[in-house]
Amino acid sequence: MKIIYPGHACVILDGSKKVLIDPFVPDGNIPVQPDLVAVTHAHADHMGIASSFSVPIITNNEIAHYLRGKGCTTEAMNIGGTIEVDGVSFTMVQAMHSSWIEEGGIGMYGGVSAGFVIGMDDITVYHAGDTGLFSDMRLIGELYHPDVALIPIGGRFTMGFCEGMMAAEFIGAPVVIPIHYNTFDKIKQDVDEFARAINETTDMKVVILKPGMEYETE
Ligand code: NI
Ligand code: MN
Repeated sequence: MKIIYPGHACVILDGSKKVLIDPFVPDGNIPVQPDLVAVTHAHADHMGIASSFSVPIITNNEIAHYLRGKGCTTEAMNIGGTIEVDGVSFTMVQAMHSSWIEEGGIGMYGGVSAGFVIGMDDITVYHAGDTGLFSDMRLIGELYHPDVALIPIGGRFTMGFCEGMMAAEFIGAPVVIPIHYNTFDKIKQDVDEFARAINETTDMKVVILKPGMEYETE
């Protein structure tokens, strides 16, 4: 499987299917026609251009209801559940964050923020969404054994440097890919230092993807 990183929290898992997670990048350019879309929560920097896709969108009940109103096809689920769509499995897991749907200056309840554990082609990827650190990340590691963990490290709205390091330890995935940093001034992070800190002190490997880059899983 290839993991393509358009930027911010937007990731494409490119295997037997193309799974697009959190379809937002600042320039709006997402270079793939996905087979499936997953949305972790309703904030604009995650839901992004989800409503422009005609493929199934996997997300929480509240966002699914909203997107169905826009004519989208959705697969609604909630935390703790697993579904299989087109041979790809999606488990919705906890995230410590907020969520609202903003439209025309009005905020609507967006349900609870989440992360996803996605299984395809015998590879398991954990996308943590936006979240603070929580100790049940250990449980996600124990239960699902992700091969790759995508974790936010930009701080302010999510985990920062120290929390991200502990999250990596809790999850225990052999490969960690930092996301949700340096997109905006408010989430600046020294990703090279973050990678060095983990790579020099643990068996895990931090892979830094600049926007537009990709990583091929082993
Ligand atoms: Ni958010
Ligand atoms: Mn965000």
